[in-house]
Amino acid sequence: MADPAVIVVGNEKGGAGKSTLAIHIVCGLLHAGRRVAIIDLDLRQRSMAKFFANRAAWMAGNGQTLPMPVEPDMGDGKALARADEQEQLARFEAAMAQARAEADVILIDTPGGDTLLSRTAHGMADQIVTPMNDSFVDFDLLGQIDPVTLELLKPSIYSESVWEARKHRAVTEGRNAAIDWIVVVNRMAVAAARNRQRLEDRMEKLARRVGFRIGPGLRDRVIYRELFPFGLTVADLSNDVRPVAVSLAHVAARQEMRSLMLALGLDGSALDAPLDAAA
Ligand SMILES: Nc1ncnc2c1ncn2[C@@H]1O[C@H](COP(=O)(O)OP(=O)(O)OP(=O)(O)O)[C@@H](O)[C@H]1O
Ligand SMILES: [Mg+2]
Repeated sequence: MADPAVIVVGNEKGGAGKSTLAIHIVCGLLHAGRRVAIIDLDLRQRSMAKFFANRAAWMAGNGQTLPMPVEPDMGDGKALARADEQEQLARFEAAMAQARAEADVILIDTPGGDTLLSRTAHGMADQIVTPMNDSFVDFDLLGQIDPVTLELLKPSIYSESVWEARKHRAVTEGRNAAIDWIVVVNRMAVAAARNRQRLEDRMEKLARRVGFRIGPGLRDRVIYRELFPFGLTVADLSNDVRPVAVSLAHVAARQEMRSLMLALGLDGSALDAPLDAAA
């Protein structure tokens, strides 16, 4: 059997939308019938792990069954965050071994910030998905801009981390081990501001320079966060599963997620199913 695909959702910038994107991709894949393993390397926040705990509780409380990922146990996250490097790496390796044995796709969520485990995971990625807010503040971690001309000066810290990860993979896995890096703008505001056009120009330049693809972005929508306490995403909604009133915005969000899944080369068909919206 082929090795499972390893997808790392990463950006050193906190609050860029990594966990949000991760749980949406996982749920989309689960509904497409894929076996997905999740590894949450944000040892302190554990947002992705909490989301799936919420999902289990919601199912139990509502007598519903939804697909669940494989979740290798890495023990107490906060204790592991304080453990020495060897212990951290050993737990991560064990989790990866279980994930490889039991899943078709491994989805790794990483913390905002540079940690040993996050760096190690980036070096194992087939694909890195980087959400980025629609802002020059977030762009700064990918590329440095001249304050006067706004021209791109050079790649900056997160781009350098991905560069290191690519080098690592080339050494460990040989020449065919290129990492596919996709950057998506998250929380796009509705108004097409001038700032956005400038940002897009800079992004395209940087993309060519450091080698990422620009994926279809996600708009800022309440529905990307309101279903979190239920452990649900727009990919889970159906005529039976609708803990909130379904609106046209949910339908639009499913389309956005579907486009993103397709850009990642993943099966987005689960998001095609019609959803009756109460307009
Ligand atoms: N497209 C979106 N529309 C609306 N809200 C969003 C969207 N994406 C993310 N959010 C919200 O923004 C906040 C930050 O998102 P999230 O926790 O996914 O980021 P993160 O990169 O995982 O952060 P951290 O670095 O702290 O782990 C959360 O409150 C989340 O619900
Ligand atoms: Mg997070």
